[in-house]
Amino acid sequence: EILRCLVGSEMCIRDRGDEMKVLVTGGAGFIASHTDVELLQAGYEVVVLDNLYNASEEALKRVEKITGKPVTFYKEDIRNEAGMEEIFKKEKPDAVIHFAGLKAVGESCREPLKYFDNNFTGTINLLKVMERTGCKNLVFSSSATVYGIPKTVPITEDAPLSVLNPYGRTKLVIEDMLRDIYAADSTWNIALLRYFNPIGAHESGEIGEDPQGIPNNLLPYVAKVAVGELECINVFGDDYDTPDGTGVRDYIHVVDLAIGHIKALEKLATNPGIVTYNLGTGIGYSVLDIIHNFEKACGKTLPYKIVERRPGDAAICYSDPTKAEKELGWKAERGIDKMCEDSWRWQSKNPKGYNA
Ligand code: WQD
Repeated sequence: EILRCLVGSEMCIRDRGDEMKVLVTGGAGFIASHTDVELLQAGYEVVVLDNLYNASEEALKRVEKITGKPVTFYKEDIRNEAGMEEIFKKEKPDAVIHFAGLKAVGESCREPLKYFDNNFTGTINLLKVMERTGCKNLVFSSSATVYGIPKTVPITEDAPLSVLNPYGRTKLVIEDMLRDIYAADSTWNIALLRYFNPIGAHESGEIGEDPQGIPNNLLPYVAKVAVGELECINVFGDDYDTPDGTGVRDYIHVVDLAIGHIKALEKLATNPGIVTYNLGTGIGYSVLDIIHNFEKACGKTLPYKIVERRPGDAAICYSDPTKAEKELGWKAERGIDKMCEDSWRWQSKNPKGYNA
């Protein structure tokens, strides 16, 4: 099978024997480590660049254990342009998947400058190095947060964009930068992937979500309560205009999300220019739905209490994922039961995450 590559990025015709090499920034992280597994199993060579600020190198060892294939790892920071350039010159990647970035909403409100420096400066450095070394194939980890508080659901890719917090602003501004870069130089091929709510874990239980400190997001918090690391789930409000009053979100299995990145890379090989896709299931579940599904998965009753709403939360947010289905041939396949079962298997096998 011949992989048609992109003239603009000086890629050439390769056969499967001559593996395409993908550099994954932030590659030791939650979504990234699951994407590393899918990349390796799809026959790509994987080079990971990660500063390990919010990740563990153990995750990469687990990726190698799951796949039986090697990962080349560089402990490097995207804010170090010269260090990144050295890696690009040595590795000559055919494409980049850019996950590296700070992503805690609350922290971004407390320390916006730290988020602008890391996410903007780091991304600008990466793009400059990519341009100088002739790698112009990029998959960017964007987020449904660029839709702000959605006026209508389900959300399509042409919905209005707005920001709710400094973290969301970095995602939207980076998307705008990439649109400008493509407008100036159409030899780039760029896929913007807007993730909804990634949860779950690889079914081996070897890799999963391992947030530092107290989890901000619902699923890892629920999982920590289930495994006894935390006391009680706080449900942020039950007076929303939703079926049971609690917030509704589009939870997507992290493995489905990872596979979406493979499909996006294949799309880039057709020279599409800049393309944007929602990666979600198109199905909304409430906070109480999640708790009840997780209770089924772990076989325990989980304590929760209703508390105040969290400022900035939308009542309902879920995707219309049909564009990705049509143009990428991608559709989420794993349901909420599997998301909770796989998340529980990871958490119960690794109650303290990677730093056992
Ligand atoms: C989900 C629902 C909460 C925690 C966030 C980021 C977004 C993206 C995905 C990166 C909401 C409720 C939560 C808790 C709760 N991240 N909740 N108790 O807010 O939809 O999206 O993660 O791109 O940018 O904003 O996810 O998991 O924080 O919340 O009741 O302890 O669970 O109110 O309804 P969210 P979440």
